[in-house]
Amino acid sequence: MTDLSQLQSELAARIAAAGDMTALEQVRVEALGKSGSISALLGGLGKMSPEERREQGPKINGLRDAVATAIAQKKAALEASELDARLASERVDLSLPARPERKGRVHPTLQTLDEMIAIFAEMGFSLAEGPDIEDDFHNFTALNFPPKHPAREMHDTFWLAPDEAGERKVLRTHTSPVQIRVMQGSNEKLPGWIANGQAPPIRVIVPGRVYRSDSDATHTPMFHQLEGLVIDRAIHMGHLKWTLDTFTRRFFETDSVVTRFRPHHFPFTEPSAEMDVQCDRSGGSVKIGQGSDWLEILGGGMVHPKVLENCGVDPDEWQGFAFGLGVDRLGMLKYGMPDLRDMFAADLRWLEHYGFTAFQAPNPATGLS
Ligand code: PHE
Repeated sequence: MTDLSQLQSELAARIAAAGDMTALEQVRVEALGKSGSISALLGGLGKMSPEERREQGPKINGLRDAVATAIAQKKAALEASELDARLASERVDLSLPARPERKGRVHPTLQTLDEMIAIFAEMGFSLAEGPDIEDDFHNFTALNFPPKHPAREMHDTFWLAPDEAGERKVLRTHTSPVQIRVMQGSNEKLPGWIANGQAPPIRVIVPGRVYRSDSDATHTPMFHQLEGLVIDRAIHMGHLKWTLDTFTRRFFETDSVVTRFRPHHFPFTEPSAEMDVQCDRSGGSVKIGQGSDWLEILGGGMVHPKVLENCGVDPDEWQGFAFGLGVDRLGMLKYGMPDLRDMFAADLRWLEHYGFTAFQAPNPATGLS
C-alpha cells in the first residue's frame, strides 16, 4: 500500500519538475512504458490470488490512470508555454530596416561578353561554340598553318600528352578552329555545340576560352576571344571594317574611340590586319581616346581561299571575312582595369570593386548607364 502511494507521490513530483517534453517523456517511459514501474505492477496482477487481485487491481489501475492524466495535463501545459515562448521570440517588428542581402557579382569578362554578344546579335549574327581541347587539324592544319609555323611550338601552345594513337591534342590557342567546325559540312557533330556544319551564307560569332603559354600585364595563359565569321557572295574588306567600326562605337558607347588598322599576317586570312585602340595606360587605370599607348584588341582579315577549300566551300563562289576579338582586353579598356592578370586572380576585393550587380542587365542600345 505504502509502496503505491509512495510511487504515486514520487511520480507526481517528477512530472511536476519536468521542464520540457524530453524530461516528461522520460518519466512516462519509466512509469508506463513496456518495462516501466506501473506496467510491472500491472503485470504482477496475473500472479495474484483472486482476492488479492480484486483488492489490488482497482488501486493499481487507479494509479496508472492518475499518472497518465497528470502526464497529459503537464504535456498540455508545456505545449502552451512553448507556444507562448515562440510567439514572444518570433514577433515581427515591421519598423526594422530590411537586412542587406549579400549577392555575388557578375565577373567583368562575362559582363563584357554579354554586351558583345548583344551587339552582334543585333547585327544578325548567331552563336556557335567548339571544344576547348582541339586537335591539330582544326587548330592549325585546316587553318593553313605551315607545318613549321612557330605558333605550333611548345612556348606558345599547351600540348596534351599523346593518346594511344600517338595524337597530341592542344588547348586551343584561338577560337578560329570553330570557323572550320562551322563550315565543314562533314564535320562530326559534337553534342551541345550550337552550330556545326552550316552551308553558306554564314554569319556566326564564337565566344570561348583560349590558351597560350604567356603572362604579363596584357597576357594571361587563359583568356577569352570572340570569333566572327561571315561567308557570303561578294564580301570584301570594307564589310569587315564597317562591322568592326560599328561594333567598337557601340561597345564603347562613344564615337570618340580612336582605332587603327595595321597590316598583319595570319595563315588563314589574306589580306590580314590587326586593330588597336588608342589608350593611356600610364596611371593606375586605362583611359581610352587619349594617351600614346595602343592596345591590340583583334586580328582579322579575308578568309584565305585555302581555308574555304579545306572546308569544302568553293572560293570562286563564296568569300568572307573573319575576326577574333580579345574579350578580356575590351573589358579592361571599357572598365579601366590596368592589369589583365587581376581578371583571373579570384581576389574577392577586386571582384567586388570591378564586378557588376546582376540587376544591371546589359542593354545593347543604351549600355549600362
Ligand atoms: N585567331 C587569331 C588570333 O588568335 C585572330 C584572327 C581571327 C585573325 C580570325 C584572323 C581571323 O590572334
